Amino acid sequence: MVSRVPQRLESFGDILTPEEASEPILAAPVRAALMEWLEEIWAKDELEAVGLKPRRRAIFTGIPGTGKTTLAHHLAARLGLPMLLVRPEQFLSEYVGASARAIGQLFQCVQAQETPVFLFFDEFDSMAAKRMTGGKNQVAEQDHNHQINTLLKSLDTLDTFAVAATNFGDRIDEAVWRRFEIQIDLAAPGDAERRRILERYFAPFMLPRFALDELSEAMATATPALMRQFCEHIKRQIIVGPKANWDMRREAVLVRVLETVKPHPDAGLPRLWSRKLDDRACAALPWPLQKNLDAYPEPSAPAADASGVVTDFKPRGR
Ligand SMILES: Nc1ncnc2c1ncn2[C@@H]1O[C@H](COP(=O)(O)OP(=O)(O)OP(=O)(O)O)[C@@H](O)[C@H]1O
Ligand SMILES: [Mg+2]
Repeated sequence: MVSRVPQRLESFGDILTPEEASEPILAAPVRAALMEWLEEIWAKDELEAVGLKPRRRAIFTGIPGTGKTTLAHHLAARLGLPMLLVRPEQFLSEYVGASARAIGQLFQCVQAQETPVFLFFDEFDSMAAKRMTGGKNQVAEQDHNHQINTLLKSLDTLDTFAVAATNFGDRIDEAVWRRFEIQIDLAAPGDAERRRILERYFAPFMLPRFALDELSEAMATATPALMRQFCEHIKRQIIVGPKANWDMRREAVLVRVLETVKPHPDAGLPRLWSRKLDDRACAALPWPLQKNLDAYPEPSAPAADASGVVTDFKPRGR
């Protein structure tokens, strides 16, 4: 029996309003690609005068936590549009024909909206995986291929902005990929962006420049999501720890934070997570954290050997 697919926009995912969006801190190439696209959209009339249209579809690739959803939401907000965050697992089904039908209904539903909606396909590889032939399960293959054909047709008639995100660009069907005219790879943030990300997520606490530099360097290759988790968990410790009578010395807090906030095993270890307390960034973290830079005593950089291993690491009290 084929399950009934509901028709409301909310049945296909979450609707995120422009007001809920936050501005991502982007690496220079990503920022440049985004600005180029926005300029193109704002030049719609001029482009149409010469028979061109601004591009309206992009695919964002990148490992989890690099900010694909955040960037799409920010873009939708800059265009003043609500974003439908399509969750394929919410409406795709293993019943023969059901997924293709649901995809058709999703696009119909989007086209029928009075005000335009910015479409964002999360985990797009689960919806648009390459077509298959010659396998053992012919019924499943045919069903999947039918789903991709429906998706292609739907994309060809879609009259709104659409962004797809995936951690596995190589799994996307090539014809579907071609329908997305812009491909942006969200690489890990650079040094300057990491400092700004740390500043944003440590706020209202402030870090002196040398501490930001050290932490940023020790977190090279970390995703913005991991950096956010790290900063927020330190702040959480600062608030909850004294109430719960935890050891609030800097080293004790850092041990607890580094033990529970960790990169995914496949993502590779940023230096801070491989050296932990031995990393000079830990000794550079002024403690306790202050909300005003003037409240810190004069900085004294910790001694470290050339490889970044701290040689005079002395715990300071609260
Ligand atoms: N460039 C950025 N600047 C500031 N914060 C960011 C940035 N990128 C991501 N974040 C933060 O990291 C968290 C994860 O981001 P997001 O969900 O956008 O990543 P994603 O690439 O969509 O991950 P997934 O592949 O798991 O869906 C969010 O809380 C977001 O606020
Ligand atoms: Mg996401």
